[in-house]
Amino acid sequence: VILDRHSRLKTSDLQARLKALDLPGGTFTPEQVVEFVDLMQVYEGAMYEISTKLEILDDEFQVRFSHDPIHHMERRLKSVSSIIGKLERKGLPIGVNSIKDNLFDVAGIRVICNYRDDVYSVSNYLSSQSDIQVLRVKDYIKNPKQNGYRSLHVIYAVPVFLSSGAHYTPVEVQFRTIAMDYWASLEHALRYKTDLPDNKLAEHSQTLLDCARSLQNIEVQMQNIHRDINGAPQVGEA
Ligand code: GTP
Ligand code: MG
Repeated sequence: VILDRHSRLKTSDLQARLKALDLPGGTFTPEQVVEFVDLMQVYEGAMYEISTKLEILDDEFQVRFSHDPIHHMERRLKSVSSIIGKLERKGLPIGVNSIKDNLFDVAGIRVICNYRDDVYSVSNYLSSQSDIQVLRVKDYIKNPKQNGYRSLHVIYAVPVFLSSGAHYTPVEVQFRTIAMDYWASLEHALRYKTDLPDNKLAEHSQTLLDCARSLQNIEVQMQNIHRDINGAPQVGEA
């Protein structure tokens, strides 16, 4: 199952949204809007290529091992306002070249796996494919963030073939288990709840950290049961 968290781009839509942003220096010229839409189309193509590769791997696992490593996927293109917001926050110029040079998460896929073993096998099989490159890996499963966040982030560069040739385009893929996803959704909701008193925020953050540790233990136990009934070696002590 793939959930698209964004509809396809429409030029008229984009033009309206760019105008509504009221950027310094006035509105974009029609040429710049076209250039932007073209760029987004390339990101969309790259995102589809990677998600198709992931679906093929998932299907192969189903046929060979009667096991679906991927529970579901979500994919999205970063919205125009988030792209501009991020460039502004980083003090970078706003334009097509700046997006290409500085943003690696315009196309994003979240791969939610059943077990931790699945996270590593799916990501390793994808990373070893000869037509794509691994640009960056951040393993927050081996090294969780201080708040308890866990996921494996990989930025891939995938060739998108246009009439002008191959355009290597980055796609950010977040691999995580169902438990990691469950946790990240609540932590994300807490982070964007700005009207919370400081003491409440601190209390909830601490509880979330405890939850992250509990979920990690549960995951190891469930992974071990799954391995045992499938005749695979056990995971080391949690
Ligand atoms: P930015 O993209 O600018 O955030 O920096 P980065 O590319 O170094 O980020 P990183 O790879 O660490 O994380 C990118 C994405 O992972 C974010 O946009 C979130 O979707 C997710 N993420 C990272 N840290 C957290 C976290 O603490 N909590 C949650 N819920 N999500 C996180
Ligand atoms: Mg990011």
